[in-house]
Amino acid sequence: MKILVTGGAGFIGSAVVRHIISNTQDSVINVDELTYAGNLESLISISNNSRYTFEQVDICDRVELGRVFVQHQPDAVMHLAAESHVDRSITGPSDFIQTNIVGTYTLLEAARHYWMQLNAERKAAFRFHHISTDEVYGDLPYQDEQESQVVNQELPLCTETTSYAPRSPYSASKASSDHLVRAWLRTYGFPMIITK
Ligand SMILES: NC(=O)c1ccc[n+]([C@@H]2O[C@H](COP(=O)([O-])OP(=O)(O)OC[C@H]3O[C@@H](n4cnc5c(N)ncnc54)[C@H](O)[C@@H]3O)[C@@H](O)[C@H]2O)c1
Repeated sequence: MKILVTGGAGFIGSAVVRHIISNTQDSVINVDELTYAGNLESLISISNNSRYTFEQVDICDRVELGRVFVQHQPDAVMHLAAESHVDRSITGPSDFIQTNIVGTYTLLEAARHYWMQLNAERKAAFRFHHISTDEVYGDLPYQDEQESQVVNQELPLCTETTSYAPRSPYSASKASSDHLVRAWLRTYGFPMIITK
């Protein structure tokens, strides 16, 4: 497969890219704008591999995304690019709204238009994998250390059916992007999965 990974120069994305190149025969197109959080040095071990390509592209740039899809013809998308640090979202939420919500919308539309013109077999196999976060569920009740040792077994957990209750600009922007991705499945039949 050819996998288009967004945010592949980030903390988790770079580990994903290294894993795919080192442990599979799949190819990676790494789409990353290289914000303060992106670091190509974390990809040095695989950057010369013939199955790896880097595209410095902003996921809010619809035209450039369209070019990347047409040029590289991916079989799947793993969408990790995001503004991801909660503290920064409190001091400056604007970038989080732009990248996490507008960027995810822009990527969804670029991917959907590309997907629509695939042949039936490739269309059926295509997947858009949206990487979300457990933080969309909000906070679990606080237990101090001493108490938690006693009741640890009874701590509530979040599951797929837990209601969304984001509590920071970061988690609210990630929750918003989850809703967009889910709506694209229901509305357009666009084949997505979300992991948290
Ligand atoms: N790190 C965690 O603990 C954690 C936990 C749960 C979920 N997540 C999610 O996993 C994903 C990856 O997290 P991470 O910790 O690797 O993030 P990170 O901040 O380390 O990396 C984000 C990457 O996205 C790129 N990027 C940012 N804005 C972009 C844009 N507009 N266009 C293209 N690229 C852009 C950055 O350059 C960077 O390489 C995110 O979606 C995050 O919400 C992270």
